[in-house]
Amino acid sequence: MSEKEISSKEYYGFIAPRPTVCVSTIDEEGNANIAPYSFVTPVAFDPPLLAISSGLEKDTLLNARDMEGFVVVPLTESWMKKGIETEVSLPREKSEFEEVGLTEKKAEKIGPYHVKEAPVNIECEYWDEFHGEDHSLLIGKVVHISADERAIKNGRINLEELGSICHVKGEEFSVVKEAEKVERE
Ligand SMILES: Cc1cc2nc3c(=O)[nH]c(=O)nc-3n(C[C@H](O)[C@H](O)[C@H](O)COP(=O)(O)O)c2cc1C
Repeated sequence: MSEKEISSKEYYGFIAPRPTVCVSTIDEEGNANIAPYSFVTPVAFDPPLLAISSGLEKDTLLNARDMEGFVVVPLTESWMKKGIETEVSLPREKSEFEEVGLTEKKAEKIGPYHVKEAPVNIECEYWDEFHGEDHSLLIGKVVHISADERAIKNGRINLEELGSICHVKGEEFSVVKEAEKVERE
């Protein structure tokens, strides 16, 4: 087997495809913000911690820190295009929800909005951060999960019905609709 050396900065293309979400926040004036994130990971069960890694200057990170919360919204096939389009950078007072045609819905326990079109919305309270040179790992404590009946199968997301959207790299995405059972001894 011949080996090819790859720049260490390209590592994330080999941790792929990555489940992709939109992260919804509000600023101090209550303006809504939403953006896609694929650097996303569960961190712990007790307390239930969930983290995203964000560029240091991004509104998502600044809002989540200032307002002490954010909503993680797993991206599914029905609103895939709009969710990805929320990447657009707008002035703080303009909402990406409105820009791409998504609907804000009041959350149960925190300030930022749910995405009405999304089957699952996960509310997180700000917990902590781990700062890197260019990104910060923003850690939230899950305080509420809203899921449509049709979004649930065997205690997990109904990916067979909904299609879980994962980012590969650049313009490439996977729509995951199959879960294979692997029997373990
Ligand atoms: C599929 C996809 C995944 C992304 N994942 C991340 C990520 O994990 N971390 C990050 O900082 N930016 C990520 N981005 C870029 C942000 O979404 C983008 O910079 C956005 O404009 C940030 O918006 P904000 O400044 O309102 O937070 C991703 C973009 C796309 C399209």
